[in-house]
Amino acid sequence: MPIANSCSYLTSSGFGLELNDLDLADLNDQTRDILVKAFYQSGGVLLIRNQQHLTPKQLCDFAALFGVVEKNEKYNPDFLLPDYPEILRLGTLMEEGKRKALWIKSDEELLWHSDDTFRHPQPIGSCLYCLTAPKEGAATWYAGMNHAYDALSDDLKKRINPLTAVHSYDHLNELLRQTNPHRPPLSEELKANLPPITRPLVAEHPVTHNKSIYATNIHIERINEMDDKQARELLEELLSHATKPEFAFAHAWQPGDLVLWDNRCTMHAPSPFDDNKYERLMYRLTMNGEQIVGAVALNTA
Ligand code: OGA
Ligand code: MN
Repeated sequence: MPIANSCSYLTSSGFGLELNDLDLADLNDQTRDILVKAFYQSGGVLLIRNQQHLTPKQLCDFAALFGVVEKNEKYNPDFLLPDYPEILRLGTLMEEGKRKALWIKSDEELLWHSDDTFRHPQPIGSCLYCLTAPKEGAATWYAGMNHAYDALSDDLKKRINPLTAVHSYDHLNELLRQTNPHRPPLSEELKANLPPITRPLVAEHPVTHNKSIYATNIHIERINEMDDKQARELLEELLSHATKPEFAFAHAWQPGDLVLWDNRCTMHAPSPFDDNKYERLMYRLTMNGEQIVGAVALNTA
């Protein structure tokens, strides 16, 4: 493994890599190269701790190693770090009674997902950087869908390889409205701008060419080749397989922690905390880039 610094796996299957003794404020061509290689070798999640000294510019430079960093135009400008539209604040931050960070309250039930699979192109990944962490709760879960795919039986691999799923923002929104009735239905305009799209149930990564289970079940309206009951059973089976302890872990945040993930071969899920008692503040940077193999050809619903 071409990693100069010490590192450790985050799960027993080898999914997820923690890199130690690395200072992201002091990179050179060799360490930049190591970071990119490690990202692909990790199965799609890197953890780097003790980076509390980073400047916003250094964070942006780090994210740019992995893709084209987004300017977050679709978010309320109040949620962006002043002068750094690349940095979206997530959490409880308020100033003069106004929210200064995107606040998404999580439930006990883990909502496993890969970001925006209902959008094409899909963002290829994000990094989260912790500034303030609650003393309890608010861990983020990650699952390695390539390692989970590899461990499936040959029969199941054969069965799911030809399948295609319809991903829909409206489906997700209606699901969230069941537990959060104040959430409005999608406007007709948004529905028209984000029509459902068809994607393969098994995705090939454009860089590693490894295959992954690609099944954010909360975004999936249906599987084209199956009836609803069969589809929901299959999606449940795949999710419970992929989130077994050998493929999944929860990261309990400390200030200065940075986690980078790849939407093309991992899923993640937020977990709740007591926001009456604790504050949380994260910076989130999102990258665009090469899509899963076959995504464009399948992009018409
Ligand atoms: C995200 C996300 C989880 C968290 O930023 O896409 O799902 O724990 N975050 O903040
Ligand atoms: Mn997410």
